[in-house]
Amino acid sequence: MTFTSSSATSLLALTLLCFSISAYTCFANCHIDDETGLLAFKAGITQDPMGKLSSWIPGTDCCTWSGIWCLAKDKRVSSLSLYEEGDPDFTLSGTISPSLSKVRYLQGLLLQNLRNLTGTFPTFVFDLPDLNGLSLDNNKLTGSLPLDIGQKLYRRLVTLTLSGNQFTGQIPSSISQLVHLRDLDLAGNQFSGPIPSGIQQMKNLVFLKLEKNQLSGKIPNLFTPLTFLRELDLSHNKLSGEIPPSISFLAPRLELLNLGHNLLTGKIPDYLGNFEKLERLDLSYNQLTGVVPTTFRNLTSILHLELGHNHLCGPIPPMKFKAEAFLGNDCLCDSPLPACKK
Ligand SMILES: *[C@@H]1O[C@H](CO)[C@@H](O)[C@H](O)[C@H]1NC(C)=O
Ligand SMILES: *[C@@H]1O[C@H](CO)[C@@H](O)[C@H](O)[C@H]1NC(C)=O
Repeated sequence: MTFTSSSATSLLALTLLCFSISAYTCFANCHIDDETGLLAFKAGITQDPMGKLSSWIPGTDCCTWSGIWCLAKDKRVSSLSLYEEGDPDFTLSGTISPSLSKVRYLQGLLLQNLRNLTGTFPTFVFDLPDLNGLSLDNNKLTGSLPLDIGQKLYRRLVTLTLSGNQFTGQIPSSISQLVHLRDLDLAGNQFSGPIPSGIQQMKNLVFLKLEKNQLSGKIPNLFTPLTFLRELDLSHNKLSGEIPPSISFLAPRLELLNLGHNLLTGKIPDYLGNFEKLERLDLSYNQLTGVVPTTFRNLTSILHLELGHNHLCGPIPPMKFKAEAFLGNDCLCDSPLPACKK
């Protein structure tokens, strides 16, 4: 009883508040194009066992539907964000309806960890002039990326994350036209061929994650302008050649460098010891030779270091690990390195 009367009171209070501001803002439904586009998206979902879209009911205000955000000024839908964080068995099946392009002012399209969304890269996003974030991680998208993806999305895309799908083919070189990108994550797909050298134009990158693909060739020496980079992960590919010298320009900000599980040769560069912020460094499972540089003494932020499964030699320099730090599972300290041949 108390509950009922108090919710009645708050409903009354809300109603009064609404009339005192503007009845339109409170009660009007969302734009018909937005509703149509979203309901078409819902129609493309064939199985929704957890009822993620159960609040998406025709005729109700789509700004109140789960996963939907609207702009305050005109109630146009600005973001569609559906993701599953916890439940590993969660699935949502179906395809991404191209009618979503009716949701004209969409800035963010985030469909992450839904696991059973199929189809190819949704090219209708090219028709969304305000799109600044596209995240479609951990679904079952297939096919190659459109060759003109960079031209078509260049306007102001800040986030492009497509990790954990089944995309194939090369990373289109046009991707380097996405010069506003801060987060590029194509990890965990089946991309092959080289890393596009045009990536050096993407000066705003903070995260560059291309791990767990089939990328081959040398790591291009393109890092000089990428001074905002905090995470560079190229691990679990087929990259060969030496660690390129321009990686030294990442010293001021880099926190994660993972080049493990590739075919890299040559020495571990001395300059890595100058990376003051570096917390995680993994160069394991390559064909690196020579010594662990004495400059590694200066890696004062390091939490996690993996250098195992290479052809390194000589003593490990004494290092100042932070608490909780450890050397990787093929711990160099357990199995001391062979002495270097003179
Ligand atoms: C995934 O989607 C396919 C086709 O839409 C369907 O047959 C299958 O049952 C779905 N799998 C799961 C685990 O929901
Ligand atoms: C560590 O850094 C200090 C100060 O930047 C420098 O003087 C010293 O030579 C470095 N030590 C090694 C082993 O690189």
